[in-house]
Amino acid sequence: MIDKAVPPGGHRKRQPGARSAFVVGLVAALGAGLLALSGPADAASTLGASAEARGRHFGAAVAAAHLGEADYTTVLNREFDMVTPENEMKWDAVEPARGSFTYVQGDRIVASAREHGQRVRGHTLVWHSGLPQYMSTLTSADELRAAMNDHITGVMNHYKGQIYAWDVVNEAFLDGSGARRDSMFQRRIGDGFIEEAFRTARAADPDAKLCYNDYNIDDADAAKTRAVYAMVQDFTARGVPIDCVGLQSHFNGQAPVPGNYQRTIERFAALGVDVQITELDIEGSGGAQADGYRKVVNACLAVPRCTGITVWGVTDKYSWRAGGTPLLFDGAYGKKPAYDAVLAALNDATTPTPTPTPTPTPTPSSTPPTAACGVSATTSGQWGGGYIVRPVTVTNTGGSPITRWTVTFTLPAGHAVTSSWNVSLTTAGRTVTARGTARNSSLAPGAATTFGFWSSRPNGDPSLPSGYTCTAG
Ligand code: G3I
Repeated sequence: MIDKAVPPGGHRKRQPGARSAFVVGLVAALGAGLLALSGPADAASTLGASAEARGRHFGAAVAAAHLGEADYTTVLNREFDMVTPENEMKWDAVEPARGSFTYVQGDRIVASAREHGQRVRGHTLVWHSGLPQYMSTLTSADELRAAMNDHITGVMNHYKGQIYAWDVVNEAFLDGSGARRDSMFQRRIGDGFIEEAFRTARAADPDAKLCYNDYNIDDADAAKTRAVYAMVQDFTARGVPIDCVGLQSHFNGQAPVPGNYQRTIERFAALGVDVQITELDIEGSGGAQADGYRKVVNACLAVPRCTGITVWGVTDKYSWRAGGTPLLFDGAYGKKPAYDAVLAALNDATTPTPTPTPTPTPTPSSTPPTAACGVSATTSGQWGGGYIVRPVTVTNTGGSPITRWTVTFTLPAGHAVTSSWNVSLTTAGRTVTARGTARNSSLAPGAATTFGFWSSRPNGDPSLPSGYTCTAG
């Protein structure tokens, strides 16, 4: 490797610190829009389910090397609905020799994610670190540009249809000044390398969200944040394809969660891009650490375009800065106070969940409360021969508690549901009937639950299920 993420001396100070998705919303009562999906009692048990009920994902960075460890996979697959390969999709991992691609470790993570209904964030295509030795021999702008574009195209083609969002360019700006980092891409290609990387990425996989990802861009007023903001503003104004900004959010005592963190998220979102918290970890322990996590979760929940949070590892044991115990599970996979704080924040019905305001329908006081439910479905990933629909969100839209709900939808010809979770499915012809399980059949008014399923389809058929309808009772 040529560049090192961790400087000599070991400790990295303050490091730092489908578009294809479609939504079908059918609301049986009240006639307008989706209702607030807040505080579902049944979704309180895991980070992923609770986040989904708030329209967000909750992910973790994963190392393929640990997928054989039962405790690791138990927690990973129980708690998280998104995964990011920690190192397995980096340049030196997937293209160690020019034009020679190897995906064994990345594929292991993607296969595991598919098996468990998790989405995948791709990390990362163009970064100053994690570059194989041959890159230093590419001394002309043309050679490096060709290598960069070939790399992006090769990797994105391999994973086409399987990645929710790619960190297309990672860490291209300097702390302090907000100047561009003096990477080999910057030196040889110049300022235009980031734009070129995004244009190449869009052409390679038009369905993946394309993100710019960086650390120390959590404080809206910092020079680095302002520089990234200006770049995103310029990109969106000129139509350069960019869909999201990733705030890595590595925090510690010297670099705590900034007081204006929510404003930072709001400012990026106001440019018309999603914001994702991509590598969250907070060094510390106990209540102070829990407070930091709570602030991050609440800030994300307060901004409609903050679409999810990923923590940079499952357990302190394998954290890139294990000594700082920065994660939600300790080395023995015990839940830490920070875990409880995150879960409580996700399930706190008093924090705002931004949704359209439904048009109030006056109800005569003598009319008994109605039993009704609504359903929305999101396709979170698709490829030639199949797709994942998650979350399917069922909301009690009526005025009384419901103890049973049934969702029906129609599969296109030749499609077949291959797996599902949080639901009991039966199929008759092309009609699928989905019923809540013992765990999630009962919903208080305004509460929601989610389920998901995988389906196969004839190769090349782009069609998707339709006609989602919810019946209460
Ligand atoms: O797997 C080898 C092992 O076989 C070998 O014995 C050992 C000797 O050093 O190295 C192991 O590889 C290390 C790898 O982590 C797995 O532990 C690499 O040397 C080490 O450089 C690598 O560090 C990763 C670092 O990025 C550099 O790529 C960290 O795991 C990873 O958490 C960190 O992640 C970065 C994000 O990509 C970008 N944002 C900052 C974040 C934290 O630094």
